[in-house]
Amino acid sequence: MTSPTTGAETLASKGGTPVRTKFLPLAVPFVGEREKALVLETLDSGWITTGTRALELGDRVAALAGARHGLAVSSATAALHLGLVANGVNEGDEVITSVNTFVACVNVMEHCGARPVIADIEADTLCIDPAAVQRALTERTKAIMPIDYGGHPCDMDRIEALARPRNLAIIEDAAHALGAAWGDRPVGSRATVTAFSFYATKNLTTGEGGCAVTNDGELNDRMRSLSLHGMDRDAWKRYTDTGSWYYEVTAAGYKYNLSDVLAAIGLGQLERFDDMQKRRHAVAAAYDRLLGDVPEVRRPAVRPGVTHARHLYPIALELERLRIDRAQFIQELRAENIGSSVHFIPIHMHPHFRNSLGLREGMFPVAEDAYRRAVSLPLFPGMTERDVEDVVAAVRKIVAAYRT
Ligand SMILES: Cc1ncc(COP(=O)(O)O)c(C=O)c1O
Repeated sequence: MTSPTTGAETLASKGGTPVRTKFLPLAVPFVGEREKALVLETLDSGWITTGTRALELGDRVAALAGARHGLAVSSATAALHLGLVANGVNEGDEVITSVNTFVACVNVMEHCGARPVIADIEADTLCIDPAAVQRALTERTKAIMPIDYGGHPCDMDRIEALARPRNLAIIEDAAHALGAAWGDRPVGSRATVTAFSFYATKNLTTGEGGCAVTNDGELNDRMRSLSLHGMDRDAWKRYTDTGSWYYEVTAAGYKYNLSDVLAAIGLGQLERFDDMQKRRHAVAAAYDRLLGDVPEVRRPAVRPGVTHARHLYPIALELERLRIDRAQFIQELRAENIGSSVHFIPIHMHPHFRNSLGLREGMFPVAEDAYRRAVSLPLFPGMTERDVEDVVAAVRKIVAAYRT
C-alpha cells in the first residue's frame, strides 16, 4: 500500500507566502525544570530501574483516575496486553474492539492467541458503537476493548450494560484520556482494567511509558507479577536492603516494568497536570470559536455530561464543499508550516489485519467516511495564542482557495 500523499503543488509552492516561517508540530512534550530536577535526583539516587518512584507514579495515576490500584509500565501497549492476559484471554477467545484505533490494540489480542473482532464507530465521537459491539457478541467473546478516542470517553453506560451480565472484561484503552470523565466519574474508575499511555505526545508523558489501573486487587497483583517476568510482587526489591534474593516465577511473564528515571518525569508532569489540561481545554475552545464560521470544517463533538481530555483536535473536512481531498489538505497545511496527522488509519486498511482477520473495504462505513475526512490539528499545552491563530489562518486560507 503506498502513501496517499500527492506530489501536487501547494498554494505556498506556487509562489505564495506560508502562514508561518517556522514549522509547528502536531504535538510537543511539555517538560520543564521540575522534570529535569527529578530525573537528576533519580540518577544520583543509586536506583535507576523500577523502584519507589515507579510505585508512586502508579499510585498517583490511580488516585487521579479514581481507581484503587495503578501499575506503571513501559507503555500503554504493555498495559493493554497485561490487562488481557491477567483476565485470562487466551487461544480461541474473541475480543471486540474499535476499527478506529491504533494498531497496538489489535496486535496485543493476536499476541494472546485471541481473535480480534472489529466493530464500527459512532459518527459523532468516533468511539466504538455499542450497537456494533452488541452485534459482534458471540459465545466466545471474552472481553471488550473500547477506546476513548482523542480523549472523548467511550459510551461506558452502554458498554457496561453489554459486558456485566455476560461477565466480560472491559479493557479500556484510555491512551488519550487521562483527565477525562463521565460526570464526576473519572476515566479509569469503571473498566475492569484501564490503560493510559505516557508516550511522548500524550497528555502526560514519560517519553515512553504507561499505566494499568484497576479496582481489583487480585488483577493488579497478577498484572504486577506478569509485568516483571512472572516473579512475585516484591521481586523488584531483591537488590535492596529490605529485599530477598529468593523469588518464584508463577507464570511466564514479560519485561514491561517502567524505570524510576522515566517515572521521575511522570511525577514531575503530575504536579502540573491540571495546568496542562487547562491549557489543552483553552486551545480546543479557541479552535471551536475561531473555526465556528467555517462550514468546510466540522469540529469534534463533545457529548453532554462528559469531560473530554482534549488529547486530539480532529476536524472532519466537509469534502463536498472542497475541490481537494484530505491528503492534499494535509500537504497544504505542511506547506504553510503547520503539522497535522490522521487518527487513525482504520484497522481494516492495514494489509496484515485484512489478511489475518479477513476484512475488506466497505465493512465499516462510518469509520471509512470519518477516515476520508479526518485531520488532527496541533494541540499541546505549550501552544501560544499566536500558534492557534496561525493554524486557523492556514485552515481558512486553504479552504478559501479550494471551496467549491
Ligand atoms: C489509542 C491508542 N492506544 C494505544 C496506544 C499505544 O500507546 P503506547 O505507545 O504507550 O504503547 C496509542 C499510542 O499512540 C494509542 O493512540
